[in-house]
Amino acid sequence: MKPSVIRALLKLVQQSDVISFAGGTPDAELFPRPLLAELASKAILEQGRLSLQYGETVGYRPFREEVCRYLRGKGIACEAENILITTGSQEGLFLLSMALLDPGDRILVEEPSYLGALLTFRNFQGQCMPVHCGPDGLDPAELEKTLESGLPAHPKFLYTIPSFQNPAGSTLPDAARKRLMELAVRRGLLVVEDDPYGELNYSGEPLKPVKSHDPGHQAVYLGSFSKIAAPGMRLGWVCAAPELIGRLTMAKETVDVCTDVLSQAIATEFFKSGALASHLDKLCSAYKARRDVMLESIRKFFPAEVQVNQPKGGFFVWAQLPQGLSASRLFPAALEKKVAYVVGEAFHAAEGRGENTLRLTFCAVDETRIAEGIQRLGGVFKDALVAPRR
Ligand SMILES: Cc1ncc(COP(=O)(O)O)c(C=O)c1O
Repeated sequence: MKPSVIRALLKLVQQSDVISFAGGTPDAELFPRPLLAELASKAILEQGRLSLQYGETVGYRPFREEVCRYLRGKGIACEAENILITTGSQEGLFLLSMALLDPGDRILVEEPSYLGALLTFRNFQGQCMPVHCGPDGLDPAELEKTLESGLPAHPKFLYTIPSFQNPAGSTLPDAARKRLMELAVRRGLLVVEDDPYGELNYSGEPLKPVKSHDPGHQAVYLGSFSKIAAPGMRLGWVCAAPELIGRLTMAKETVDVCTDVLSQAIATEFFKSGALASHLDKLCSAYKARRDVMLESIRKFFPAEVQVNQPKGGFFVWAQLPQGLSASRLFPAALEKKVAYVVGEAFHAAEGRGENTLRLTFCAVDETRIAEGIQRLGGVFKDALVAPRR
């Protein structure tokens, strides 16, 4: 195991009065606190005999049913037997690795990709094989060529974050989602779709999960309560074939016995209350405004040589500095100006790649500070461009 670069960096950032575009945590002011407090009180007083007791490893039955209903609304065909409740979707990634990976197994991952997944796969001695990911996510045609070349041989699965990806902010268009699923079926490639940000859609164009195009069980879908409501409740779900759910459940027995039943009982009532839709509207309008201010400030204050994507949802803006500039070497200068980001190298499976890239998170900083922070960062980049390069 290796320590996470991001955890180490976040500690540094939290110690000072910096404007941090580094962490990927939601804005705590937007948690639906009064409603959750009311539902928590009911879950303890009225259902406490169940909600304060150990629960079934596979998940609290009423919650599995609510998750099922929610996923069907996204076009995913499922029954409760397809659902495992996990302690955040991070545990879903852990359990999948535990159940599926043997040392040396190859996993296709987007480049760049979510660090928490890369670390998990590596901890189980999986080999992450990068597939290029542009503003429109991975290219199914390129993936097909890679698979046809036979290298890497027999990948165990493809790990993809098709909507508002962490860290690149990219989104796989609807037609490509269908093509990806067709390719996976044709090639017998298992797709692991991680979708914590899909609901944070600022474009107004609905997006269906890749899994909604799955005619059978070629895709595993991971969802999370963290970005749609509250990450501290640590709730996630896996939707997969009943046989795989059985294996993951066996793995989970040895990890944490069951996911916090009280959280599941509260979340069940949250889903049932019908409050999710209006809560999501509130989140999307707040985060969209921040995204717009960040992109507008970047246009104003970043040198033209710095390229950024235009994320249609989620939390992240991905920036590419001109070749020769290093995001990690510029980090101390940024911190001196009291502004922070995450260096992009951390999100690359292959060592030494993405030195000129960085991730900026707009979700937990208010609009005035976003503009101020981007102006400071623009100054750092401008200074670096006129300085002689190493
Ligand atoms: C792509 C992705 N997957 C999974 C997770 C884990 O989320 P959680 O365990 O809180 O559900 C995160 C968290 O940031 C993420 O960005």
